[in-house]
Amino acid sequence: MAVNSKKQDDISETLVPTHIGVIMDGNGRWAKKRLLPRKLGHREGAKTFKKIALAGKAMGVKYMTFYAFSTENWKRPKDEVDAIMKLFEEYLDDVSSFEKENIRLVFIGDRSMLSTNLREKMKHAEEISRDFDSMTVILAVNYGGQSEICHSVKEIAKKVKDGELDINDIDEHLIEKNLYTGNIPPVDLIIRPSGEMRLSNFLIWQSAYAEYYFTDILWPDFKEKDLGEAIKAFSDRNRRFGGI
Ligand code: IPE
Ligand code: IPE
Ligand code: MG
Repeated sequence: MAVNSKKQDDISETLVPTHIGVIMDGNGRWAKKRLLPRKLGHREGAKTFKKIALAGKAMGVKYMTFYAFSTENWKRPKDEVDAIMKLFEEYLDDVSSFEKENIRLVFIGDRSMLSTNLREKMKHAEEISRDFDSMTVILAVNYGGQSEICHSVKEIAKKVKDGELDINDIDEHLIEKNLYTGNIPPVDLIIRPSGEMRLSNFLIWQSAYAEYYFTDILWPDFKEKDLGEAIKAFSDRNRRFGGI
């Protein structure tokens, strides 16, 4: 974490988290309140994603992980899932605002269930932004924390089987290195809008010592000032990591 030195509204003198995780929840309820189809809620939520990622960069956050689609979200009606997938593709056709801001884009999750087209666009976006270093935006697509831990364990098991690793080499550090987030620091702050107070299988390993910030605001209504408030609340917490 770094002390933000920029003289900037109420976040100057604030301890800004290095890594923020955001559970982008409440799109469906936002649409329902307006008697609109759920997919329009997702469209509005996607706009909020872009806005809040750029706001995070302006506030000095180095990593932001956004939960876009969980391994459990396939349970939804097919037309809603299709609409969400289409939205991802549309978004990946225009990542120019991230490019301009020198933002690196990374995807986490199991890509094997996504369409070839989407997988290619994801790969392309990752390749062109590989060396961008102002901030890293991580999008969790078909992501589940439990399946990520299984993936890590399988990677390690393969190496043990091939004799590259000894069973005694397995420790927290090794499991962490083999997660999708291998080189990304642990999460400092998890933000969940929409009034739900749960992780829903998001970054369960990485958030072991995260602070949590819950708000009733529905994701499409979430504004830059709400991110500022979450960061301010984080800054006022006393993290002890088991110490005193
Ligand atoms: C989050 O919004 C988006 C995804 C899970 C893909 P929801 O669609 O879960 O919105 P609510 O919770 O039904 O309001
Ligand atoms: C979590 O939201 C997943 C994403 C925001 C992508 P859900 O709406 O799927 O979570 P639950 O079902 O309320 O726990
Ligand atoms: Mg939801």
